Amino acid sequence: MHFITPTNIALALALRPVHADFLGLNNPAPVDLSSAQSHVRAAWSNISAIFDAYYHHNLNISAIKDLVGSENVTWSAGLFSLHDPAATQLQYHYVAPQIANSDLGTREVDGDSIYRSASVTKLITVLTGLLTLTETDWHRSIADIIPEFVVVMGEPHAPRWDQITPWLLARQMSGLQAIGTISDTLPLLEGIALATNTSLTDLLALSGVPPVPRDVLGPCETINCTVEDWIVSARSPPPVFLPATTTSYSNFGFMVLGLAISRITGKPYDTLYNDTVFAPLNMTSSFVNAPTEGPLLNRSVIAQPLGGAGGFGWSYAANNPSVPSGGILSTIHDLDKLGLAILNSTLMSPEKIRQWMKPASHTASLTYSIGAPWEIVRYIHRSTGKVTDIYTKLGDSGAYGGILVLIPDYNAGFSLLNAYYEGPEGPQTRGGSALGIINYIAEAVVPALEAQAVAEAVRKYVGVYSSPDAEVNSTIVIGSLAPSSASDFAVVPDGLVVQSWISNDIDMLASYYPGAPLRLQLAIPNQTPGAAKSEATFQGTQNKQWNTYDAAGLGPFTGFYGSNYDWLTYDGLRYGADGLQTFRFGVDANGCAVEVTNAATRVTLVKGRAEGRKRYKR
Ligand SMILES: *[C@@H]1O[C@H](CO)[C@@H](O)[C@H](O)[C@H]1NC(C)=O
Ligand SMILES: *[C@@H]1O[C@H](CO)[C@@H](O)[C@H](O)[C@H]1NC(C)=O
Ligand SMILES: *[C@@H]1O[C@H](CO)[C@@H](O)[C@H](O)[C@H]1NC(C)=O
Ligand SMILES: *[C@@H]1O[C@H](CO)[C@@H](O)[C@H](O)[C@H]1NC(C)=O
Ligand SMILES: *[C@@H]1O[C@H](CO)[C@@H](O)[C@H](O)[C@H]1NC(C)=O
Ligand SMILES: *[C@@H]1O[C@H](CO)[C@@H](O)[C@H](O)[C@H]1NC(C)=O
Ligand SMILES: *[C@@H]1O[C@H](CO)[C@@H](O)[C@H](O)[C@H]1NC(C)=O
Ligand SMILES: *[C@@H]1O[C@H](CO)[C@@H](O)[C@H](O)[C@H]1NC(C)=O
Ligand SMILES: *[C@@H]1O[C@H](CO)[C@@H](O)[C@H](O)[C@H]1NC(C)=O
Ligand SMILES: *[C@@H]1O[C@H](CO)[C@@H](O)[C@H](O)[C@H]1NC(C)=O
Repeated sequence: MHFITPTNIALALALRPVHADFLGLNNPAPVDLSSAQSHVRAAWSNISAIFDAYYHHNLNISAIKDLVGSENVTWSAGLFSLHDPAATQLQYHYVAPQIANSDLGTREVDGDSIYRSASVTKLITVLTGLLTLTETDWHRSIADIIPEFVVVMGEPHAPRWDQITPWLLARQMSGLQAIGTISDTLPLLEGIALATNTSLTDLLALSGVPPVPRDVLGPCETINCTVEDWIVSARSPPPVFLPATTTSYSNFGFMVLGLAISRITGKPYDTLYNDTVFAPLNMTSSFVNAPTEGPLLNRSVIAQPLGGAGGFGWSYAANNPSVPSGGILSTIHDLDKLGLAILNSTLMSPEKIRQWMKPASHTASLTYSIGAPWEIVRYIHRSTGKVTDIYTKLGDSGAYGGILVLIPDYNAGFSLLNAYYEGPEGPQTRGGSALGIINYIAEAVVPALEAQAVAEAVRKYVGVYSSPDAEVNSTIVIGSLAPSSASDFAVVPDGLVVQSWISNDIDMLASYYPGAPLRLQLAIPNQTPGAAKSEATFQGTQNKQWNTYDAAGLGPFTGFYGSNYDWLTYDGLRYGADGLQTFRFGVDANGCAVEVTNAATRVTLVKGRAEGRKRYKR
């Protein structure tokens, strides 16, 4: 056991330890996001008022400063929660002048407005793969799956199609080029030469690049081409890294991944996405090919000509090669359905979902990891330093963008879609503005979800649990820990703690857990899909936790014991094959604790009986 000495307790207080000892779980996920009492509704009302102040009342207050410049971006955003269906009512929509005056499509936006989702598509592409490919398929080589790619192998600098697999592509680990031939400067210069009546040779000389044979790009220079032509263009562009070297965001890689899934399933893109994801999840407003007429067009947010130059418009060529990378159109209501289905294990087993929702690699940033193809933002709570992993997929391409955000710790998330066409010459402000808006939402909602989770845990678990047998002097008092520093939610404590524990006359805290408080960390939630609904299991822990060894003021290896100890030393004391640190709470249909059993003592203590009464005598 690791006993904390007074010296390092003082150190701990000075350094703002966080109480987040096991990654992910802490308190049960909140079930009330939408009522008037919820911290989450309060936070949403708060940012809605800030959005209104800027977009509708022209107020120049400090709270709006990161929104400046976003007034031309049309957007829709909203929350969702596995445990509170009414959370989807927490939405915000803003129509910028471009869409308010659009000749085509809708002039106002709501949860059913259809936007291009751009690269949010990549998440759906991986999901189609998870639902259709076998474990073996994921690790087959692309050379094996798409034999047309083999012909270039052996050429200098050709991609190693024999080493690249769907799984490496899904994890952004293929090392392939970022976009491939469909966005090359050569056709652009040709276009300029034509438009300005300059010879290409003269223009190239001015541009500092030599003439190259026209056929290096193959037949596919834009996304307006067939998959067959694209294969010819796509097989030879030299990779940037060797496979499995580093995370590098490749749109091109996702086009290859989508084609591989299409080949393995034998389905073209529209059938593949319809059959695998849209129909099973009732995503009736999600499309591979853009709606161009009728009531669907009337719901569409058209920021751009229907068919733009090179095929980049509202409507791309049907089933074109870029579909798996960024082609899908959707609404925030449909993205909510997708997010909830992932959190609820609707299409896959809970175990498979838990495996999927994990990082597969770091990036060069400590706060940003990559999964398949999750972009995992490691959110640091300002008040405590606690880390909450936010699983996201961002979209940002041309006139459209969006994000789907899932926070497994809270079984909740949010979606956002946006549109603004700026033209090729313009400053491209939409992507940056969208991230600014997403920051507002995250900074409001994530701490509020945490505060709400803590408040609900305190309300549902704090109390005195005693032996139903009046002769037995056994009680457990569950209390709550004060916050480690002032915050927006300073009134809300940080989590649960075993305040007192008497087992058969013996003071268990004094005997086994002297020194630091025995805090309770959720270990097996009753709310997880597939879990026993009537039982939530917690682990007791006494160790402090820091988000880096540096924050703890320790060296990298001393930090192992000193700043990140619980994952290593959990379940430290066992008696008779079960843990003295394991506390199993029986919960009622509302998730309120009614009894607790310490796994080692095996005695079930009932909540509330001793409250307001003298302790039982033996
Ligand atoms: C509301 O917003 C203000 C300004 O951003 C912030 O200081 C405050 O903490 C927020 N309150 C809640 C409940 O989110
Ligand atoms: C808004 O206020 C800030 C600081 O008070 C100031 O620098 C800025 O110029 C103002 N912007 C507008 C559009 O008035
Ligand atoms: C918003 O659009 C108006 C009108 O086109 C333009 O003058 C302004 O510069 C734009 N603002 C931003 C931040 O792009
Ligand atoms: C989650 O799944 C459960 C069990 O299949 C179902 O009863 C529940 O309605 C689902 N919840 C949501 C929000 O989809
Ligand atoms: C293009 O340039 C050539 C020679 O530089 C000239 O003869 C021709 O008239 C120009 N064409 C146009 C449309 O300006
Ligand atoms: C896919 O679904 C859409 C919308 O439900 C439908 O219009 C389209 O015909 C479907 N396409 C295929 C190939 O299944
Ligand atoms: C499918 O979604 C549509 C549109 O949101 C809705 O009207 C319909 O009730 C849903 N069907 C089912 C079975 O949930
Ligand atoms: C689309 O909206 C326009 C304008 O509101 C309306 O006149 C038209 O009938 C609608 N078309 C369809 C197919 O709903
Ligand atoms: C796309 O390609 C087709 C066939 O080559 C062509 O007819 C069409 O004009 C192209 N569209 C755009 C927007 O370039
Ligand atoms: C129960 O045991 C504790 C710890 O030994 C002791 O302090 C307390 O007095 C006992 N209570 C009764 C009612 O015997």
